Amino acid sequence: HSDVDVVVASLVPAYGCQRRTPLTNKNCIFTDALETLSKEASFCGSDGRSLAFIRAASVLRSLPSTLTTIEELNRLPGFGEHSKRVVQEILEDGFSAEVERVTQKEKYQTMKLFTNIFGVGMKTANRWYQEGLRSLGDLRNSQKLKLSKQQEAGLQHYEDLNMPVSRAEADLIAKMVEEVAHSFLPGTIITLAGGFRRGKLSGHDVDILITHAQEGREEGLLSKVIGQLQSQGLILYHDLKRNSYHDAFSPDSKSTSNMDHFERSFSIFRLKVASHIGDIGARDHSPESSKDWKAVRVDLVVTPISQYPYALLGWTGSKHFERELRRFSCNEKKMVLNSHALYDTVEVQVAISQS
Ligand code: GTP
Ligand code: MN
Ligand code: MN
Repeated sequence: HSDVDVVVASLVPAYGCQRRTPLTNKNCIFTDALETLSKEASFCGSDGRSLAFIRAASVLRSLPSTLTTIEELNRLPGFGEHSKRVVQEILEDGFSAEVERVTQKEKYQTMKLFTNIFGVGMKTANRWYQEGLRSLGDLRNSQKLKLSKQQEAGLQHYEDLNMPVSRAEADLIAKMVEEVAHSFLPGTIITLAGGFRRGKLSGHDVDILITHAQEGREEGLLSKVIGQLQSQGLILYHDLKRNSYHDAFSPDSKSTSNMDHFERSFSIFRLKVASHIGDIGARDHSPESSKDWKAVRVDLVVTPISQYPYALLGWTGSKHFERELRRFSCNEKKMVLNSHALYDTVEVQVAISQS
C-alpha cells in the first residue's frame, strides 16, 4: 500500500462523531463479526465489552475501503486485544471461528429472536430463556406468560416488523402524518429523522419529528393525529406518553438515561401496500397470501420549536454517533448535550448551588 494509505489511516479520529462515515460499509465482513460479539456480550450482561466491540466496528465502518492487512489495523484507534484478534482471524481465514461458535449457541439465537420483538428488552428475553422458552411458537402458546400490550402487538406483527422499511414506505407514512397534522394545525412541520435522514435506503422503523414555528402550538396535537389515524383504521398499536420536560431539569433529576422528555408515541401503523397478486378486493379476512397491508413501526416525537434543533440532532442517530457526540461534549467541552439542550456544566452547578 502507498504512503497515502498510511497517512489517511493514522488520521482516523478517536471519537466516532469526528469521523465522516460512508453510507455503504466496505468492511461488513469484519463489522458483522464484531457486532455479533457485541450482541453476545450484551446478552451476557457485559455492557462494557459490548461497547468495545461496537467501537471497533464503528472505526472500520468509517474507512473508505476494505481493510486488507493487520498493519493497517494497528494504526487505527479504538481496537482492543479481542477485536484485533477477531479481525486478524478473518484476514487470515476468511472467517472467525469464535463468531461461528457464538452464532451456533442456543442462548444467542434465542436471545436474538426474543429481543427482536417490539417491546422485549434484554431482561425479559433472558427471563423467558431461563424459563425454557425458545421460539415464537413457545411464546404464542404459553398459557402462563404475561405479555404487555406492546409485546402482544410485537409478537402478533413479528414478521412484518422484522422486514425492512423502504424509503418510499417511510415517505408515505410521513405524508400521512403530515396531512392529518395539517388538518388540525396548519403549518405543522413534519421531519423524517433516524436512519432515513442519514441517507439510508431502508430501516427498521420510521422516525418522525413534529414541531410548529410558534412555540406551544404543538401541544396536544399528537393525540388528535393518532385519534384521527386510528378512526381511519391505520393504527395497529400506539402508546402515547405526555411530555415531561417541564420537570426535567430539577436538580434531583440527574437522570443519565438516554430517554428524553418529549411527548411521543412509539406506534405500529397499518400501511397499505400493493398486493403482489393484484386482487383489488382483498380485505382483512383474506388469506395471508393476498394481505394488502404491512405493519410498520413508527416513532412520533413532538418538540417545541425551541428544542427542535437538539431533538433533530438527537433523533437522527446513529445510536453510536449520538453516544460519541455526548461523550465528546462532556470530556472535551465540559458540556452536556441531550435531545433538549446543550449547556455548560459549570454554569448549571452554579445555578443549582444558588437556588
Ligand atoms: P433503523 O431504524 O434501524 O434504520 O436505524 P435508526 O438509526 O433510525 O435507529 P432508531 O430508529 O432506533 O433510532 C434513531 C435515533 O433516535 C437514534 O439516534 C437513537 O439514539 C434515537 N432514539 C431512539 N429512541 C430514543 C429515545 O427513546 N430517546 C431518545 N432521546 N432518542 C432515541
Ligand atoms: Mn429508525
Ligand atoms: Mn426509532
